[in-house]
Amino acid sequence: MTQNFIPQNSEYKISSVEVTASCPSNIALIKYWGKYEGQIPANPSISYTLNHCHTITKIEFFADEPFSVQTFLAGKEEVKFAEKIEKYFKNIELYLPWILKGKYIIKTENTFPHSSGIASSASGFGAIAKCLMDFDDIFSNGIEKEFKTKKASFLARLGSGSACRSLYDGLVVWGETDEVMGSSDLFAVQYPNEKIHPVFKNFNDWVLLIHEGQKTVSSTVGHGLMDANPYAERRFQEARENFVPMKEILKTGDLQKFIQLVEHEALTLHAMMMMSEPAFILMKTGTMEVINKIWNFRKETNLPLFFTLDAGANVHLLFPNNGQENEIKSYIESELLQHTQNGGVVKDVMRF
Ligand code: DP6
Repeated sequence: MTQNFIPQNSEYKISSVEVTASCPSNIALIKYWGKYEGQIPANPSISYTLNHCHTITKIEFFADEPFSVQTFLAGKEEVKFAEKIEKYFKNIELYLPWILKGKYIIKTENTFPHSSGIASSASGFGAIAKCLMDFDDIFSNGIEKEFKTKKASFLARLGSGSACRSLYDGLVVWGETDEVMGSSDLFAVQYPNEKIHPVFKNFNDWVLLIHEGQKTVSSTVGHGLMDANPYAERRFQEARENFVPMKEILKTGDLQKFIQLVEHEALTLHAMMMMSEPAFILMKTGTMEVINKIWNFRKETNLPLFFTLDAGANVHLLFPNNGQENEIKSYIESELLQHTQNGGVVKDVMRF
């Protein structure tokens, strides 16, 4: 299958050009946590693509100069990042035969705080992959649009798994599952719009910055810990099974079941890390306080405020715009913001 992404006709006319691309971040509902050789996910995942949180990347390419990469993040040179990108470019040469034939200056900016723990690797690699496919388009005299996005998703995955889902709007699936036609381990696909109840198409994600700064554990280490975790196989199976109710929930608009499933997925990811060797607790006190408050709030008001978590302490507060959102927003402002480190919150909506 990877064969489809290896160019058959490798006649390229390379030239010195610059391209700019922007790519949003995404937040997973059924989580990807655990992978095999070649960035193959251990289970399928599904995410919402965000609207405001994105990365904007400009790449200048200088043809026929010795291969090198220089990167700037928000105007500041980042040598570590450049090393990572160099390695990445070498890794994908099979799919873009021209890629090592020049020098790169990459300037990238995020619309959200770097320290927020919002997946900048997803939007970052998504934006780079888009730029690369723009170059490929220019150097090869045109690529069909649908294939271009699919290959960008394929290439983004090789940079960071969750990045492949950022190439599409709406709800996006990565990883093969019988529940979603066309799904693949190699690239993401958009979950069919007509199979999504309207309540899920107008949704908020407010990210409470409980803890700013470096994550306790990188995703590379986290994924790696699943290899020796005796509970991992069962977890992968559960994620696969969760696609069955998820499909039904998305069709019928059953918010209660959606809340249960999404929160369960988040807590399972954290539980897996607690049961790893070495063990990691990725939540902070504030995370626990917010979760307990959300549960009490739901019990008392029946309003659809719930959470998901990535591999860190920050809490993604999810709630639909279904007429009750103002009450939920006031509650967040008055009761939940106090648990953030510096009053930090990133207010986003899902991109449909
Ligand atoms: C917890 O995509 O960051 O956000 O493939 O090693 O780059 P790599 O991992 P990454 O893992 C993200 C995991 C997650 C859940 C998810 O987005 O599905």
